[in-house]
Amino acid sequence: MALPSSTTRGRCPNLLPLFVGLVVVAEIAFLGRLDMAKNAAMVHHWTTNFQFPSITTTTTTTAAFSDSSFSSSSSSSSSIHGALEEDGGGGDDDGRCEDWLERKDSVPYTRNFTTDPIIVSGSEQDWSSCSVGCKFGYVANRVPDATFNVPLDPSTSGVHRSMESSKYYIENNIAVARRRGYKILMTTSLSSDVPVGYFSWAEYDIMAPMHPKTEDALAAAFISNCASRNFRLQALETLENLDIKIDSFGACHHNRDGHVDKVEALKRYKFSLAFENSNEEDYVTEKFFQSLVAGAIPVVVGAPNIEEFSPSHGSVLHIKELGDVESVAKTMKFLAANPDAYNKSLSWKYDGPSDSFKALLDMAAVHSSCRLCIFLATKIRDKEEMAAQFQKRPCKCTTSSGTVYHLYVRERGRFYMQSIFLRSGALTLKALESAILSKFTSLNHTPVWKKERPESIRGGDELKIYRIYPVDLTQRQALYSFKFNTDDDLRRHVERNPCAKLEVIFV
Ligand SMILES: *[C@@H]1O[C@H](CO)[C@@H](O)[C@H](O)[C@H]1NC(C)=O
Ligand SMILES: *[C@@H]1O[C@H](CO)[C@@H](O)[C@H](O)[C@H]1NC(C)=O
Repeated sequence: MALPSSTTRGRCPNLLPLFVGLVVVAEIAFLGRLDMAKNAAMVHHWTTNFQFPSITTTTTTTAAFSDSSFSSSSSSSSSIHGALEEDGGGGDDDGRCEDWLERKDSVPYTRNFTTDPIIVSGSEQDWSSCSVGCKFGYVANRVPDATFNVPLDPSTSGVHRSMESSKYYIENNIAVARRRGYKILMTTSLSSDVPVGYFSWAEYDIMAPMHPKTEDALAAAFISNCASRNFRLQALETLENLDIKIDSFGACHHNRDGHVDKVEALKRYKFSLAFENSNEEDYVTEKFFQSLVAGAIPVVVGAPNIEEFSPSHGSVLHIKELGDVESVAKTMKFLAANPDAYNKSLSWKYDGPSDSFKALLDMAAVHSSCRLCIFLATKIRDKEEMAAQFQKRPCKCTTSSGTVYHLYVRERGRFYMQSIFLRSGALTLKALESAILSKFTSLNHTPVWKKERPESIRGGDELKIYRIYPVDLTQRQALYSFKFNTDDDLRRHVERNPCAKLEVIFV
């Protein structure tokens, strides 16, 4: 993503000579007043971290100092005003910088996705709406952008989509699929390009009320295939040997009539054995989500990272390996005998699930076909932004009070970006969050999940930020591994990625 630095970047037009003068004067004054060592460290920091031409580095360095260092220099300051005024705009310098950047940075793209939508060949799909023009099916005289095949035309991206575990279908392994020529992967893995999970708010009434636990057996199981590529069968047998009474509705260990509504049946049990057919990261199927709907504590054999899918801490029992069965059986017996402790494990049913749970599952608020189109359109934009006219965008503007940086932000699940501006004097995570909140609030923005989540966990109208990350990260990175930990992380990112594109998850 790092764009090469250019000698023209980062200045309002015709201001540079003025600036160098101002900066030199100011720096001399500044050095005279301030602790030399501290200043040297700062200069070192800036020059080593950023590949700006030296002259820009100087302006940037001074811009990082407090506003008051310069405000006294009134004659230079008014010249800057004059120069900015030539370029139109009114109000304060920063405001004029914003207007100027908004104009200069908005280089038109060649493709208008409204008139020329993303085309994915394959079967027609229907979904209510997508934030970018997006068509599935055959379109006459158009080479599709993507196809669910290894494509014949090199300008078409091959998409591989599957919800099965790669333990059964090796082509679902990301590296294998890429080697086979697929550019875009849609699998249950959050590391795939467009993850396709089993969950959707519409399909699973997660907040459905609890039902009295009327069955004698402690747990219910629906397992139809006794041969699986993990230890689920041994786990089931070990539980039974440890005196955990299990009603098995599936073909495997069958002891109850399976002609029942699965979720309705599960509601009457304290525990649900959500035993997947393979233990693969992010591979979490309806077995798990149905248990949540039913308000039966899931006992999981499956994804090693199942805790990331749990609605609140301590609401899932995980059998990571056969050796865990005994302690899990003990916990089941304890919870079964202690109604308060049992109830506490399901407190999310009353108080709502954690933000991390909502942020993960809200991904499905936007149809995967739409997310595929957004992914494709974003790649097309990224590629076009390598062209000279985009590389020449200023992306920042310097005035007497510092530098104004232009950033773009969109909500996860939407395509179009909004402009926000950060100042060198406050290039902080707090300032970033507040710029995003005020931008989206002023737009009366409605989060993508607002109409999808159950009423009781939609929250109020105020926006709350869960994550902010560079647009091109995978969801695994966005949700779990990437973080702007410090203001310095953010500053480095903004400096290295002119007109940085970010994505925000509201929760
Ligand atoms: C794209 O096309 C639509 C429909 O003709 C038009 O309303 C819109 O302004 C165009 N967008 C751009 C950026 O030209
Ligand atoms: C379980 O706890 C919730 C509060 O978290 C409470 O409203 C509910 O009545 C409790 N149910 C039982 C059966 O104790």
